Amino acid sequence: MKLKVHKVESLESQKVESLIVKKIKTVLKYLKYRLFAKHKKGFGIHSPFLYRFVREVLYGNKYFYAYDEIAELRYDLLDCDEEISVKDFGAGSKKMKNNIRKVRDIAKYSAVSEKFGEMLFRTVEYYKPKTILELGTSLGIGTLYLAKPDSRAKVYTIEGCPETAKKATENFKELKAGNIEQIIGNIDEKLPDLLKKIEKLDLVYFDGNHQKEATLSYFYRCLQKTHNDTIFYFDDIHWSEGMTEAWNEIKKNEKVTLTVDLFFGGFVFFKKELSKEDFIVKF
Ligand SMILES: C[S@@+](CC[C@H](N)C(=O)[O-])C[C@H]1O[C@@H](n2cnc3c(N)ncnc32)[C@H](O)[C@@H]1O
Repeated sequence: MKLKVHKVESLESQKVESLIVKKIKTVLKYLKYRLFAKHKKGFGIHSPFLYRFVREVLYGNKYFYAYDEIAELRYDLLDCDEEISVKDFGAGSKKMKNNIRKVRDIAKYSAVSEKFGEMLFRTVEYYKPKTILELGTSLGIGTLYLAKPDSRAKVYTIEGCPETAKKATENFKELKAGNIEQIIGNIDEKLPDLLKKIEKLDLVYFDGNHQKEATLSYFYRCLQKTHNDTIFYFDDIHWSEGMTEAWNEIKKNEKVTLTVDLFFGGFVFFKKELSKEDFIVKF
């Protein structure tokens, strides 16, 4: 009995140790990014396309009323004590381990941050994509940043957890976002069906299952519907070694030209007129 307890304890401490090592590695990667990422605010960028992207999209400073609407909704969710039962299909959460979760915790740990959400909003506002797809809706905060800039754009969003998706539906109603089509179910199953009915994709926000195999599988599926002006945005490209490996494979794909690494996420462009380059931009 004593031996068993000792074994469990040492397995636990090994787990904790490997988590600490992983965390330290991520912090070191981030420090390296902060130290070596060039091109803050567009200085030193020669490509006019990339220069405009950095100035207008990443560092764009126009004010939009929808920013406040979404921020207010986020505050309400951060204040919400309601508990829901969560079905997790993805890599899970590093912060939330229990399946009964408070809405406030989901809003705190799973929703896109204000900074990155507003960046997605500016991406839509600037490039005017008409068919947008989000993988991983959660409470719908990211979806709203994609849907609010242009009511004529159609936003498809897939979420596996029914109760989380239900909260997102309420949020879309509250903010009167009528251009969102929610799909509930596993992305692995729902994405192929959805792609059959979509002619082309203009913008895809990959934020569902943050695992290497899933990310690559979604990438290759969506790749079939790209065109010269399609934009892909991947969240959490350095969340784990597997995600960095996925990101490296995506960068190498022959259809991909320009990529922009922001550490917490990465943009992928397919424009044939651009040379194949990988930029690490401070954001
Ligand atoms: C990080 S959250 C999404 C956040 C949201 N995109 C935003 O910007 O606010 C990831 C979501 O993906 C969902 N998810 C993960 N793997 C999935 C899968 N295989 N199929 C469907 N949904 C999945 C999770 O349930 C979770 O709600």
